[in-house]
Amino acid sequence: MSGGSAASLLPVKGIVLAGGTGSRLYPVTSAVSKQLLPVYDKPMIYYPLSVLMFGGIREILIISTPGDLPQFERLLGDGSAWGLRLSYAVQPRPNGLAEAFLIGAEHIADDPVALVLGDNIFHGPGFPRQLRAAIAALDGCVLFGYPVKNPGRYGVGEADGRGRLISIEEKPVRPRSNRAITGLYLYDNDVVPIARGIRPSSRGELEITDVNRAYLERGTATLIDLGRGFAWLDTGTHDSLLEAGQYVQVLEHRQGIRIACLEEVALSMGYIDADACFALGAKLGSSGYGEYVMAMARAAGAAG
Ligand code: TTP
Repeated sequence: MSGGSAASLLPVKGIVLAGGTGSRLYPVTSAVSKQLLPVYDKPMIYYPLSVLMFGGIREILIISTPGDLPQFERLLGDGSAWGLRLSYAVQPRPNGLAEAFLIGAEHIADDPVALVLGDNIFHGPGFPRQLRAAIAALDGCVLFGYPVKNPGRYGVGEADGRGRLISIEEKPVRPRSNRAITGLYLYDNDVVPIARGIRPSSRGELEITDVNRAYLERGTATLIDLGRGFAWLDTGTHDSLLEAGQYVQVLEHRQGIRIACLEEVALSMGYIDADACFALGAKLGSSGYGEYVMAMARAAGAAG
């Protein structure tokens, strides 16, 4: 049944942006990409990749630096193991998040697109369903806001009672709300011409906030609240990376589940069948992760 579920037929492309310098994690990231570092039991990029998979998105472009991209290819291959079609592109310099739409223009073609940052972890009840509903209703752009203590470090959004975005600012000194804009963005196909039209900011980057502001000005930007009980985790500093790993460890130990286990996600989305899932688990040998994948596959009817 690797043909997939109804959700997988949605003509939406995905991009994982996994470049950057990771300078706040030096020297850990001096020779290794941040997004390949472990968050407890799996590489960081598994988490954002699972988000796109939960959204029903199977054609995904991975963007990273010229030095790091081959490592991502070694880890993920063409994605067919998980019923995905992965492709790869280089971002020569960290010129900003909005450059993803220029680098990815051919991949996006005439379709809507979901961009997720390679170092963002999303976890919460009902999130896959919420995401699929947002994708199905997409008209303009959809951003996801998360209440934080220190909004001035982020892009900050403000919405009216109906969820329409009414203001957006990048790292404001006096934030108008405590809603940080998270690293998951849904856009209709206009994002490509909009990104082509913006110019580098004073810090020399093509800012995603400028893209989002263009949608705000058209009145077609929505801000969905990821409320209490949801986890949006940062992994950009030594402390936040360790805390993210601890969060995953505690939840996985306590509940006997795994977060962002790509084999399990592919199975649950109908991208692969139980036997294929079992074979993937068996290849991972005696790691607890591999055993978990095999157990999930057996529960879904695998012969192994
Ligand atoms: P940041 O956390 O802003 O930057 P960084 O990852 O390079 O880290 P540091 O601040 O420690 O130097 O980037 C957020 C995400 O976006 C991260 O996954 C890297 C990615 N990114 C790119 O891929 N290209 C870019 O041009 C930028 C600015 C970020």
